[in-house]
Amino acid sequence: MDGQIRTLGVIGAGQMGSGIAHVAAAAGFDVVLNDLSADRLNAGLATINGTMTRLVKKGGMTEEARAEALSRITTADSFAALGDCDLVIEAATENEAVKRKIFSTLCASLKPTTLLASNTSSISITRLASVTDRPERFIGIHFMNPVPRMQLVELIRGIQTVPATFEAAKGFIDRLGKTPTVSEDFPAFIVNRILLPMINEAVYVLHEGVGSVEAIDTAMKLGANHPMGPLQLADFIGLDTCLAVMQVLYEGLADSKYRPCPLLVKYVEAGWLGRKTQRGFYDYRGEIPIPTR
Ligand SMILES: NC(=O)c1ccc[n+]([C@@H]2O[C@H](COP(=O)([O-])OP(=O)(O)OC[C@H]3O[C@@H](n4cnc5c(N)ncnc54)[C@H](O)[C@@H]3O)[C@@H](O)[C@H]2O)c1
Repeated sequence: MDGQIRTLGVIGAGQMGSGIAHVAAAAGFDVVLNDLSADRLNAGLATINGTMTRLVKKGGMTEEARAEALSRITTADSFAALGDCDLVIEAATENEAVKRKIFSTLCASLKPTTLLASNTSSISITRLASVTDRPERFIGIHFMNPVPRMQLVELIRGIQTVPATFEAAKGFIDRLGKTPTVSEDFPAFIVNRILLPMINEAVYVLHEGVGSVEAIDTAMKLGANHPMGPLQLADFIGLDTCLAVMQVLYEGLADSKYRPCPLLVKYVEAGWLGRKTQRGFYDYRGEIPIPTR
C-alpha cells in the first residue's frame, strides 16, 4: 500500500499542519494543504517558507531543494481539492466536535482507497474512525512539534485499523526519515500522557505561588536537565491544546489527578494561547520573551 502514497492531503495549516506539509514536500510528496481561509493558508505557507529559508542559510537544505519542495505544495480552502490524495492527515484544532465534522464531511470528496489519519494529541482514534466510511483505513499519526526538527512519530491503531493501513503509515513515516513508536488507543497515547500532566503540575506550582514562571522553568532546565522549561514548552505547544489534552485525560481516565489547573483555564479563556498569539506564560511581543508572572 505504501508505494501508492504519492499525494498527501493535510487539513489544518497551523503549527502542525504546516510542519507536516513541510517535511512531506521536502521528502518528495505532492501536498495539498487545506484550511478554513486563504489567510490561514497563506500564513501556513509563510511559516514553511520561513523555516526552509532558515534551513538553507544554516546549510541544512539547498536553495534548489527549497524551491522544489515549495512548488510541490498547493493550497485549497475546500475538501474537493483532496480528491487525488492517497493519504489525508487531519491536523486541525484539538476539539473532537471539529474533527468529527471534518471526517464525516471529508469522505465524500475522497477516492475509496484514500487512507485517513489524525494528528490528534489525545482524542480516541477509534471514535474518530467511526464517523468515516472507512474505519479500517484510519490511523493515528501523531507528529511532534516542531515537525521538521522532531524525530518521533507515534502511530496509534484504532480497534478497526487493518494491518495494511498500519504498514502503509509506517512506510510513509520511514520515507520521511522519522522514527515511529507504537501506542495503544488510550487518552493522550504515550508522550502526552506523561508530558501534559507534568506541564499541568507546573501551572499548579505557579498558581499556588510556589515559584515564578522563571523559577519554575529554570528549576526544571537546570535541576532535571530538560532542554526547555515546562511553561516555555506549554507556550510552544499552545495553551488551548494543553488544556484540551488535560480535559481528554480527565474525562477519559476519570481520575481527579488529571484535573486541568484553573490558571491554565483562565489563560485560555483570556485568549493567551502561547507563542501563536504572542502571549502565554511569557509575552513574546518584544525582542525577548518576558515572563508574565
Ligand atoms: N502544538 C503541538 O505541540 C502539537 C503537537 C502534536 C500534535 N498536535 C495536534 O495537532 C493538531 C493541530 O494543532 P496545532 O498546534 O497545529 O494547532 P493550530 O491552532 O496552530 O492550528 C490549527 C489549524 O486548524 C485549522 N482548522 C480548524 N478547523 C478547521 C476545519 N474545519 N477545516 C480545516 N482547518 C481547520 C485552524 O484554522 C488552524 O489553522 C491538534 O490536534 C493538536 O492536538 C499539536
